[in-house]
Amino acid sequence: MSAANFEKIAALFPGRWDRNYVAAKLRTDPLYSTLADHLRHSALPLLDLGCGLGLLAFFLRAEGIQVPILGLDYDSRKIDSARQAATRSKMADLAFAHHDARSGLPAHQGNVSILDILQFFTPMEQESLLKLAASRVAPGGKLIIRSGLRDASWRFKVTVLGDWLAKATFWMKAAPTHYPTAEDFQQILTPFGKVGISPLWGGTPFNNHLIVLVRDNQ
Ligand SMILES: C[S@@+](CC[C@H](N)C(=O)[O-])C[C@H]1O[C@@H](n2cnc3c(N)ncnc32)[C@H](O)[C@@H]1O
Repeated sequence: MSAANFEKIAALFPGRWDRNYVAAKLRTDPLYSTLADHLRHSALPLLDLGCGLGLLAFFLRAEGIQVPILGLDYDSRKIDSARQAATRSKMADLAFAHHDARSGLPAHQGNVSILDILQFFTPMEQESLLKLAASRVAPGGKLIIRSGLRDASWRFKVTVLGDWLAKATFWMKAAPTHYPTAEDFQQILTPFGKVGISPLWGGTPFNNHLIVLVRDNQ
């Protein structure tokens, strides 16, 4: 996607701070184009948990992906901002709602994304959310997660520091609580289907990985 398209998405947002953040994030983070590649050929609706400002949804629409998308986040300010951007965009089938992912999930059968939010959950909350999210994936559909992985790398140390900085600057409501390991994902998600784990840090110093569950056809 071109820089002009990033600016178009950024211009949908109400405040200057959000507009600058959105343009910079889309320019520098390979996350959204990776998700677009995974979801491009699927007609299933998408549930995006911890959607923040809804960047994934706006990016997918700009890539011509027209499936219904529901984004949920427990930060009302971000949801308000995402809603204003959705109204301004006049894009169809795009909804954002205030919801704490620790209090269950709405009915859904489709694809599910959980991007950069698991570090705010305790190990038990992570396991419950992952199992619940996997149960919302349609046969043949995907649960796509990005998470920093706990391991012995320098990248992991930088990831923890970055999350504490986000809290200190009030960009995130919460401080990081717990980082899962690659083995945690394998153990929790393998009963639902095939699990793949690969690095997704792009040009960043973070220990981000992409975890993709492809749900078994039952
Ligand atoms: C690092 S941001 C990622 C935003 C978005 N997923 C993205 O990648 O563009 C983490 C998001 O998770 C949200 N979050 C954290 N805990 C949550 C919870 N319990 N329920 C819903 N959202 C939560 C935060 O409000 C924040 O918007």
